[in-house]
Amino acid sequence: MGEQATSDFLGSLRRAVSNVHLYPRGHPQSELALDMLAETTGTLTAGIDALVLSMMDNAFYLDRTLLPQESLEYRDLYRLFQDRGLDSISIDGRPSTGDLAELAAFLANDGSDVPADGTIRLNERPYNRSDLVKLASMSQIRHSYTASLDFLQGVAESMADEAGADISDAVWTVEKLLEQVLLQPGASLLLSTLKTHDEYTFYHSINTSLLALTVGQAIGLNPDQIVELGVGALLHDLGKIRVPIEIIQYPGRLDDAMWAEIKRHPHEGAQAILAGSGQGQEIAALVALEHHARYDLAGYPEVGRRGKLHLYSRITTICDIYDALTTRRAYKRAMPPATALKTIVEGSGTQLDPDLVQIFVSILGIFPAGSLLRLETGEVAAVVAPGRDAESVKAAIVITTDGERVSSPDTFDLSADRVVELLLPEDVGLDAASLVESSHVATG
Ligand SMILES: [Fe+2]
Repeated sequence: MGEQATSDFLGSLRRAVSNVHLYPRGHPQSELALDMLAETTGTLTAGIDALVLSMMDNAFYLDRTLLPQESLEYRDLYRLFQDRGLDSISIDGRPSTGDLAELAAFLANDGSDVPADGTIRLNERPYNRSDLVKLASMSQIRHSYTASLDFLQGVAESMADEAGADISDAVWTVEKLLEQVLLQPGASLLLSTLKTHDEYTFYHSINTSLLALTVGQAIGLNPDQIVELGVGALLHDLGKIRVPIEIIQYPGRLDDAMWAEIKRHPHEGAQAILAGSGQGQEIAALVALEHHARYDLAGYPEVGRRGKLHLYSRITTICDIYDALTTRRAYKRAMPPATALKTIVEGSGTQLDPDLVQIFVSILGIFPAGSLLRLETGEVAAVVAPGRDAESVKAAIVITTDGERVSSPDTFDLSADRVVELLLPEDVGLDAASLVESSHVATG
Protein backbone atom coordinates (compact mmCIF):
# COMPACT_ATOMS: atom_id res chain seq x y z
CA MET A 1 0.00 0.00 0.00
CA GLY A 2 1.96 3.01 -1.21
CA GLU A 3 1.52 6.73 -0.73
CA GLN A 4 0.28 6.99 -4.28
CA ALA A 5 -2.58 4.60 -3.50
CA THR A 6 -3.72 6.80 -0.60
CA SER A 7 -3.55 9.92 -2.71
CA ASP A 8 -5.47 8.22 -5.55
CA PHE A 9 -8.12 7.05 -3.08
CA LEU A 10 -8.62 10.56 -1.65
CA GLY A 11 -8.64 12.09 -5.13
CA SER A 12 -11.28 9.67 -6.37
CA LEU A 13 -13.35 10.14 -3.20
CA ARG A 14 -13.28 13.90 -3.83
CA ARG A 15 -14.45 13.39 -7.43
CA ALA A 16 -17.13 10.91 -6.40
CA VAL A 17 -18.53 13.31 -3.80
CA SER A 18 -18.69 16.16 -6.27
CA ASN A 19 -20.24 14.03 -9.04
CA VAL A 20 -22.80 12.45 -6.72
CA HIS A 21 -23.66 15.99 -5.63
CA LEU A 22 -24.04 17.23 -9.23
CA TYR A 23 -25.70 14.23 -10.92
CA PRO A 24 -28.48 11.87 -9.85
CA ARG A 25 -27.70 8.25 -8.94
CA GLY A 26 -27.48 6.15 -12.08
CA HIS A 27 -26.20 9.05 -14.19
CA PRO A 28 -23.11 7.95 -16.16
CA GLN A 29 -20.94 10.65 -14.53
CA SER A 30 -21.71 9.59 -10.97
CA GLU A 31 -21.46 5.89 -11.85
CA LEU A 32 -18.07 6.46 -13.50
CA ALA A 33 -16.79 8.32 -10.45
CA LEU A 34 -18.05 5.55 -8.14
CA ASP A 35 -16.35 2.90 -10.30
CA MET A 36 -13.10 4.84 -10.02
CA LEU A 37 -13.56 5.08 -6.27
CA ALA A 38 -14.13 1.33 -6.05
CA GLU A 39 -10.96 0.76 -8.05
CA THR A 40 -8.73 3.05 -5.97
CA THR A 41 -10.19 1.63 -2.75
CA GLY A 42 -9.39 -1.83 -4.04
CA THR A 43 -5.79 -0.84 -4.70
CA LEU A 44 -5.48 0.83 -1.30
CA THR A 45 -6.80 -2.15 0.62
CA ALA A 46 -5.22 -4.90 -1.51
CA GLY A 47 -3.78 -7.62 0.68
CA ILE A 48 -4.87 -6.15 4.02
CA ASP A 49 -7.80 -6.94 6.30
CA ALA A 50 -8.83 -3.46 7.26
CA LEU A 51 -7.61 0.11 7.49
CA VAL A 52 -8.61 3.30 9.21
CA LEU A 53 -8.37 6.83 7.88
CA SER A 54 -8.41 9.23 10.84
CA MET A 55 -8.77 12.99 10.86
CA MET A 56 -7.18 14.88 13.72
CA ASP A 57 -5.56 18.30 14.22
CA ASN A 58 -5.79 19.23 10.56
CA ALA A 59 -4.09 16.04 9.44
CA PHE A 60 -5.01 12.72 7.88
CA TYR A 61 -3.60 9.52 9.30
CA LEU A 62 -3.67 6.15 7.61
CA ASP A 63 -3.80 3.78 10.56
CA ARG A 64 -1.12 5.30 12.82
CA THR A 65 0.88 7.00 10.10
CA LEU A 66 0.65 10.71 9.45
CA LEU A 67 0.00 11.65 5.81
CA PRO A 68 1.69 15.06 5.59
CA GLN A 69 1.35 15.60 1.85
CA GLU A 70 -2.26 14.41 1.68
CA SER A 71 -3.19 16.54 4.70
CA LEU A 72 -2.27 19.61 2.67
CA GLU A 73 -3.27 18.38 -0.76
CA TYR A 74 -6.77 17.26 0.25
CA ARG A 75 -7.48 20.14 2.59
CA ASP A 76 -10.92 20.66 1.04
CA LEU A 77 -11.82 17.04 1.75
CA TYR A 78 -10.63 17.40 5.34
CA ARG A 79 -12.94 20.40 5.78
CA LEU A 80 -15.80 18.44 4.27
CA PHE A 81 -15.24 15.56 6.71
CA GLN A 82 -15.17 18.09 9.53
CA ASP A 83 -18.41 19.72 8.39
CA ARG A 84 -20.07 16.32 8.32
CA GLY A 85 -18.83 15.49 11.82
CA LEU A 86 -16.47 12.75 10.65
CA ASP A 87 -13.25 11.88 12.40
CA SER A 88 -12.54 8.39 11.20
CA ILE A 89 -13.46 6.07 8.34
CA SER A 90 -12.86 2.36 8.90
CA ILE A 91 -12.72 0.28 5.73
CA ASP A 92 -12.82 -3.49 5.62
CA GLY A 93 -10.53 -5.23 3.18
CA ARG A 94 -13.16 -5.55 0.48
CA PRO A 95 -15.63 -2.70 0.73
CA SER A 96 -18.78 -3.14 -1.31
CA THR A 97 -19.58 -0.69 -4.09
CA GLY A 98 -22.90 0.01 -2.40
CA ASP A 99 -21.17 1.10 0.81
CA LEU A 100 -18.77 3.31 -1.11
CA ALA A 101 -21.73 4.92 -2.89
CA GLU A 102 -23.39 5.48 0.49
CA LEU A 103 -20.26 7.13 1.84
CA ALA A 104 -20.04 9.45 -1.16
CA ALA A 105 -23.75 10.30 -0.87
CA PHE A 106 -23.41 11.02 2.84
CA LEU A 107 -20.46 13.33 2.19
CA ALA A 108 -22.28 15.00 -0.70
CA ASN A 109 -24.95 15.93 1.85
CA ASP A 110 -27.90 14.71 -0.15
CA GLY A 111 -29.87 13.79 2.94
CA SER A 112 -28.69 10.22 3.27
CA ASP A 113 -28.06 8.70 6.67
CA VAL A 114 -24.69 8.08 8.23
CA PRO A 115 -23.51 4.72 6.96
CA ALA A 116 -23.70 2.78 10.20
CA ASP A 117 -22.45 -0.69 9.46
CA GLY A 118 -21.31 -2.78 6.56
CA THR A 119 -17.82 -2.66 5.08
CA ILE A 120 -17.39 1.08 5.75
CA ARG A 121 -17.97 2.44 9.23
CA LEU A 122 -17.66 5.98 10.44
CA ASN A 123 -16.42 7.46 13.69
CA GLU A 124 -15.27 4.27 15.37
CA ARG A 125 -12.12 6.15 16.35
CA PRO A 126 -9.91 3.17 17.13
CA TYR A 127 -6.87 5.40 17.70
CA ASN A 128 -6.67 8.17 20.24
CA ARG A 129 -4.64 11.35 20.20
CA SER A 130 -1.60 9.86 21.91
CA ASP A 131 -1.47 7.10 19.30
CA LEU A 132 -1.25 9.57 16.49
CA VAL A 133 -0.21 13.06 17.33
CA LYS A 134 3.36 12.46 18.42
CA LEU A 135 4.29 11.76 14.84
CA ALA A 136 3.42 15.28 13.76
CA SER A 137 6.77 16.79 14.66
CA MET A 138 6.44 19.70 12.27
CA SER A 139 2.79 20.36 12.77
CA GLN A 140 3.18 24.09 13.41
CA ILE A 141 4.34 24.93 9.94
CA ARG A 142 1.72 22.65 8.44
CA HIS A 143 -0.95 24.45 10.50
CA SER A 144 0.19 27.79 9.10
CA TYR A 145 0.01 26.38 5.60
CA THR A 146 -3.48 24.92 6.10
CA ALA A 147 -4.69 28.19 7.70
CA SER A 148 -3.54 29.94 4.52
CA LEU A 149 -5.41 27.43 2.35
CA ASP A 150 -8.57 28.03 4.40
CA PHE A 151 -8.12 31.77 4.09
CA LEU A 152 -7.76 31.62 0.30
CA GLN A 153 -10.75 29.30 0.03
CA GLY A 154 -12.80 31.86 1.99
CA VAL A 155 -11.57 34.70 -0.23
CA ALA A 156 -12.52 32.73 -3.35
CA GLU A 157 -15.99 32.06 -1.96
CA SER A 158 -16.44 35.72 -1.09
CA MET A 159 -15.69 36.59 -4.72
CA ALA A 160 -18.23 34.19 -6.17
CA ASP A 161 -21.05 36.73 -6.37
CA GLU A 162 -19.04 39.50 -8.05
CA ALA A 163 -18.49 41.11 -4.68
CA GLY A 164 -15.08 42.34 -3.58
CA ALA A 165 -12.72 39.89 -1.95
CA ASP A 166 -12.94 39.59 1.81
CA ILE A 167 -9.26 39.89 2.68
CA SER A 168 -9.74 40.99 6.27
CA ASP A 169 -7.81 37.94 7.57
CA ALA A 170 -4.92 38.36 5.14
CA VAL A 171 -2.60 40.04 7.63
CA TRP A 172 -3.30 37.44 10.32
CA THR A 173 -2.69 34.64 7.82
CA VAL A 174 0.60 36.07 6.61
CA GLU A 175 1.77 36.76 10.17
CA LYS A 176 1.34 33.03 10.87
CA LEU A 177 3.44 32.18 7.82
CA LEU A 178 6.06 34.78 8.76
CA GLU A 179 6.32 33.35 12.27
CA GLN A 180 7.36 30.04 10.72
CA VAL A 181 9.73 31.68 8.24
CA LEU A 182 11.51 33.31 11.18
CA LEU A 183 11.45 30.28 13.47
CA GLN A 184 12.22 27.62 10.87
CA PRO A 185 13.62 29.26 7.76
CA GLY A 186 14.91 26.02 6.25
CA ALA A 187 11.70 24.10 6.78
CA SER A 188 9.63 27.01 5.44
CA LEU A 189 11.67 27.14 2.28
CA LEU A 190 11.35 23.39 1.96
CA LEU A 191 7.58 23.48 2.41
CA SER A 192 7.36 26.21 -0.22
CA THR A 193 8.26 23.48 -2.73
CA LEU A 194 5.02 21.63 -1.98
CA LYS A 195 3.24 20.59 -5.16
CA THR A 196 -0.18 19.06 -5.67
CA HIS A 197 -1.76 17.02 -8.43
CA ASP A 198 -5.02 18.88 -8.97
CA GLU A 199 -5.29 22.31 -7.46
CA TYR A 200 -2.85 24.94 -8.45
CA THR A 201 -3.67 28.55 -7.66
CA PHE A 202 -3.98 28.35 -3.87
CA TYR A 203 -0.81 26.33 -3.33
CA HIS A 204 1.06 28.48 -5.80
CA SER A 205 -0.05 31.60 -3.93
CA ILE A 206 1.13 30.29 -0.57
CA ASN A 207 4.46 29.12 -1.98
CA THR A 208 4.99 32.50 -3.62
CA SER A 209 4.20 34.22 -0.34
CA LEU A 210 6.60 32.00 1.65
CA LEU A 211 9.38 32.77 -0.83
CA ALA A 212 8.58 36.50 -0.79
CA LEU A 213 8.64 36.57 3.02
CA THR A 214 12.10 34.97 2.91
CA VAL A 215 13.32 37.59 0.45
CA GLY A 216 11.74 40.42 2.48
CA GLN A 217 13.55 39.20 5.57
CA ALA A 218 16.86 38.89 3.68
CA ILE A 219 16.77 42.46 2.33
CA GLY A 220 16.10 43.90 5.77
CA LEU A 221 12.49 45.06 5.52
CA ASN A 222 10.87 45.69 8.90
CA PRO A 223 8.21 43.21 10.09
CA ASP A 224 5.25 45.39 9.01
CA GLN A 225 6.74 45.77 5.55
CA ILE A 226 7.45 42.04 5.30
CA VAL A 227 3.80 41.32 6.12
CA GLU A 228 2.62 43.84 3.49
CA LEU A 229 4.86 42.13 0.95
CA GLY A 230 3.60 38.70 2.02
CA VAL A 231 -0.04 39.78 1.66
CA GLY A 232 0.66 41.13 -1.82
CA ALA A 233 2.37 37.88 -2.81
CA LEU A 234 -0.42 35.77 -1.31
CA LEU A 235 -3.10 37.64 -3.25
CA HIS A 236 -1.18 38.30 -6.47
CA ASP A 237 -3.10 35.77 -8.58
CA LEU A 238 -6.52 36.32 -7.04
CA GLY A 239 -7.86 37.52 -10.38
CA LYS A 240 -7.43 34.00 -11.76
CA ILE A 241 -10.55 33.02 -9.82
CA ARG A 242 -12.49 35.12 -12.34
CA VAL A 243 -10.85 33.51 -15.40
CA PRO A 244 -12.77 30.44 -16.65
CA ILE A 245 -11.27 27.30 -15.13
CA GLU A 246 -11.13 25.57 -18.55
CA ILE A 247 -8.68 28.24 -19.70
CA ILE A 248 -6.58 28.11 -16.51
CA GLN A 249 -6.28 24.33 -16.87
CA TYR A 250 -6.13 24.22 -20.68
CA PRO A 251 -3.63 21.50 -21.52
CA GLY A 252 -2.34 22.90 -24.83
CA ARG A 253 -1.14 26.10 -26.43
CA LEU A 254 -3.46 28.99 -25.71
CA ASP A 255 -5.01 30.81 -28.67
CA ASP A 256 -5.29 34.61 -28.80
CA ALA A 257 -8.76 34.72 -27.28
CA MET A 258 -7.65 32.56 -24.35
CA TRP A 259 -4.59 34.69 -23.82
CA ALA A 260 -6.76 37.79 -23.73
CA GLU A 261 -8.76 36.15 -20.92
CA ILE A 262 -5.62 35.23 -18.98
CA LYS A 263 -4.25 38.74 -19.33
CA ARG A 264 -7.28 40.09 -17.52
CA HIS A 265 -6.29 38.49 -14.22
CA PRO A 266 -3.99 41.27 -12.91
CA HIS A 267 -6.79 43.85 -13.33
CA GLU A 268 -9.47 41.53 -12.02
CA GLY A 269 -7.38 40.75 -8.96
CA ALA A 270 -6.54 44.38 -8.21
CA GLN A 271 -10.20 45.37 -8.55
CA ALA A 272 -11.42 42.57 -6.30
CA ILE A 273 -8.85 43.47 -3.64
CA LEU A 274 -9.75 47.17 -3.76
CA ALA A 275 -13.48 46.46 -3.70
CA GLY A 276 -13.13 44.29 -0.62
CA SER A 277 -11.95 45.28 2.79
CA GLY A 278 -8.73 44.61 4.59
CA GLN A 279 -5.59 46.18 5.90
CA GLY A 280 -2.90 46.90 3.30
CA GLN A 281 -5.26 46.43 0.39
CA GLU A 282 -3.82 49.27 -1.74
CA ILE A 283 -0.33 47.77 -1.90
CA ALA A 284 -1.72 44.27 -2.40
CA ALA A 285 -3.84 45.56 -5.29
CA LEU A 286 -0.76 47.16 -6.82
CA VAL A 287 1.20 43.90 -6.58
CA ALA A 288 -1.67 42.02 -8.22
CA LEU A 289 -1.81 44.61 -11.00
CA GLU A 290 1.95 44.70 -11.63
CA HIS A 291 3.12 41.12 -11.20
CA HIS A 292 3.25 40.41 -14.97
CA ALA A 293 4.34 43.91 -16.00
CA ARG A 294 8.05 42.93 -16.12
CA TYR A 295 11.02 44.95 -14.95
CA ASP A 296 11.43 46.47 -18.45
CA LEU A 297 7.67 47.22 -18.49
CA ALA A 298 7.22 45.12 -21.64
CA GLY A 299 4.74 42.78 -19.98
CA TYR A 300 1.02 43.10 -19.24
CA PRO A 301 -0.96 45.11 -18.46
CA GLU A 302 0.69 48.28 -19.69
CA VAL A 303 1.39 50.18 -16.53
CA GLY A 304 2.80 53.26 -18.30
CA ARG A 305 6.33 54.57 -18.29
CA ARG A 306 5.99 56.10 -14.88
CA GLY A 307 9.20 54.66 -13.60
CA LYS A 308 9.79 51.53 -11.58
CA LEU A 309 7.32 48.92 -10.45
CA HIS A 310 6.78 48.69 -6.72
CA LEU A 311 9.51 46.79 -4.88
CA TYR A 312 6.95 44.24 -3.65
CA SER A 313 5.76 43.63 -7.22
CA ARG A 314 9.33 43.02 -8.39
CA ILE A 315 9.95 40.54 -5.58
CA THR A 316 6.61 38.79 -6.13
CA THR A 317 7.31 38.35 -9.86
CA ILE A 318 10.55 36.48 -9.18
CA CYS A 319 8.94 34.19 -6.59
CA ASP A 320 5.89 33.68 -8.82
CA ILE A 321 7.97 32.62 -11.83
CA TYR A 322 10.26 30.40 -9.78
CA ASP A 323 7.34 28.48 -8.26
CA ALA A 324 5.60 28.20 -11.64
CA LEU A 325 8.74 26.83 -13.32
CA THR A 326 9.23 24.19 -10.64
CA THR A 327 5.62 23.01 -10.87
CA ARG A 328 4.33 20.35 -13.24
CA ARG A 329 1.23 21.45 -15.13
CA ALA A 330 -1.06 19.70 -17.58
CA TYR A 331 0.96 21.12 -20.46
CA LYS A 332 4.54 21.01 -19.17
CA ARG A 333 6.99 19.12 -17.00
CA ALA A 334 8.39 20.70 -13.87
CA MET A 335 11.95 22.02 -13.90
CA PRO A 336 14.32 20.92 -11.14
CA PRO A 337 14.89 23.90 -8.78
CA ALA A 338 18.49 24.46 -9.92
CA THR A 339 17.40 24.61 -13.57
CA ALA A 340 14.59 27.03 -12.68
CA LEU A 341 17.12 29.28 -10.94
CA LYS A 342 19.18 29.41 -14.16
CA THR A 343 16.06 30.51 -16.02
CA ILE A 344 15.46 33.20 -13.40
CA VAL A 345 19.03 34.44 -13.92
CA GLU A 346 18.44 34.59 -17.69
CA GLY A 347 15.53 36.99 -17.08
CA SER A 348 17.71 39.30 -15.01
CA GLY A 349 17.66 42.90 -16.27
CA THR A 350 14.82 42.40 -18.74
CA GLN A 351 11.95 40.55 -17.14
CA LEU A 352 13.33 40.71 -13.62
CA ASP A 353 15.08 43.19 -11.34
CA PRO A 354 18.79 42.22 -11.50
CA ASP A 355 19.60 43.20 -7.90
CA LEU A 356 16.71 41.15 -6.58
CA VAL A 357 17.62 38.20 -8.79
CA GLN A 358 21.09 38.21 -7.27
CA ILE A 359 19.62 38.19 -3.76
CA PHE A 360 17.13 35.47 -4.66
CA VAL A 361 19.87 33.22 -6.05
CA SER A 362 22.06 33.77 -3.02
CA ILE A 363 19.20 32.89 -0.65
CA LEU A 364 18.22 29.69 -2.44
CA GLY A 365 21.79 28.59 -3.04
CA ILE A 366 23.32 26.37 -5.67
CA PHE A 367 20.75 23.60 -5.15
CA PRO A 368 17.62 25.06 -3.52
CA ALA A 369 15.82 23.29 -0.68
CA GLY A 370 13.60 20.58 -2.11
CA SER A 371 16.12 19.68 -4.82
CA LEU A 372 16.51 15.96 -5.41
CA LEU A 373 19.99 14.99 -6.47
CA ARG A 374 21.49 11.75 -7.73
CA LEU A 375 24.97 11.35 -6.28
CA GLU A 376 27.98 9.60 -7.80
CA THR A 377 27.25 6.62 -5.50
CA GLY A 378 23.78 6.17 -7.02
CA GLU A 379 22.08 7.41 -3.86
CA VAL A 380 19.42 10.12 -4.01
CA ALA A 381 19.80 13.10 -1.68
CA ALA A 382 17.17 15.71 -0.87
CA VAL A 383 18.36 19.22 -0.11
CA VAL A 384 16.82 20.52 3.09
CA ALA A 385 18.64 23.82 3.62
CA PRO A 386 21.33 26.03 2.12
CA GLY A 387 24.86 25.01 3.01
CA ARG A 388 27.64 26.70 4.96
CA ASP A 389 29.18 28.02 1.76
CA ALA A 390 28.23 28.46 -1.89
CA GLU A 391 29.61 25.04 -2.88
CA SER A 392 27.68 22.87 -0.43
CA VAL A 393 24.17 22.24 0.82
CA LYS A 394 22.57 20.57 3.81
CA ALA A 395 21.06 17.35 2.49
CA ALA A 396 19.70 13.97 3.54
CA ILE A 397 20.00 10.63 1.77
CA VAL A 398 16.42 9.64 0.99
CA ILE A 399 17.08 6.67 -1.31
CA THR A 400 19.97 4.26 -0.95
CA THR A 401 22.16 2.85 -3.71
CA ASP A 402 19.88 -0.21 -3.74
CA GLY A 403 16.82 1.96 -4.32
CA GLU A 404 15.51 1.60 -0.74
CA ARG A 405 13.64 4.52 0.84
CA VAL A 406 15.22 5.90 4.04
CA SER A 407 12.42 6.67 6.47
CA SER A 408 14.11 9.03 8.90
CA PRO A 409 17.22 10.35 7.25
CA ASP A 410 20.01 12.33 8.93
CA THR A 411 21.33 15.50 7.38
CA PHE A 412 24.91 16.11 6.32
CA ASP A 413 26.92 18.67 4.37
CA LEU A 414 26.85 17.67 0.73
CA SER A 415 29.50 19.02 -1.59
CA ALA A 416 28.10 20.14 -4.95
CA ASP A 417 30.73 18.21 -6.93
CA ARG A 418 29.20 14.87 -5.86
CA VAL A 419 26.01 15.58 -7.82
CA VAL A 420 25.62 13.75 -11.12
CA GLU A 421 21.95 14.34 -11.97
CA LEU A 422 19.02 16.59 -11.08
CA LEU A 423 15.83 14.64 -10.38
CA LEU A 424 12.16 15.55 -10.02
CA PRO A 425 9.83 14.50 -7.19
CA GLU A 426 7.79 12.43 -9.64
CA ASP A 427 10.93 10.54 -10.71
CA VAL A 428 11.59 9.57 -7.12
CA GLY A 429 8.11 9.43 -5.57
CA LEU A 430 8.92 11.87 -2.77
CA ASP A 431 7.12 14.96 -1.65
CA ALA A 432 8.15 18.08 0.22
CA ALA A 433 5.63 17.75 3.03
CA SER A 434 6.93 14.31 4.04
CA LEU A 435 10.49 15.60 3.97
CA VAL A 436 9.59 18.49 6.22
CA GLU A 437 7.80 16.15 8.60
CA SER A 438 10.76 13.84 8.92
CA SER A 439 12.21 14.92 12.27
CA HIS A 440 15.87 14.51 11.46
CA VAL A 441 15.47 16.71 8.45
CA ALA A 442 13.77 19.51 10.35
CA THR A 443 16.80 21.61 10.91
CA GLY A 444 15.25 25.05 11.09
FE1 LIG B 1 -0.32 35.77 -12.46
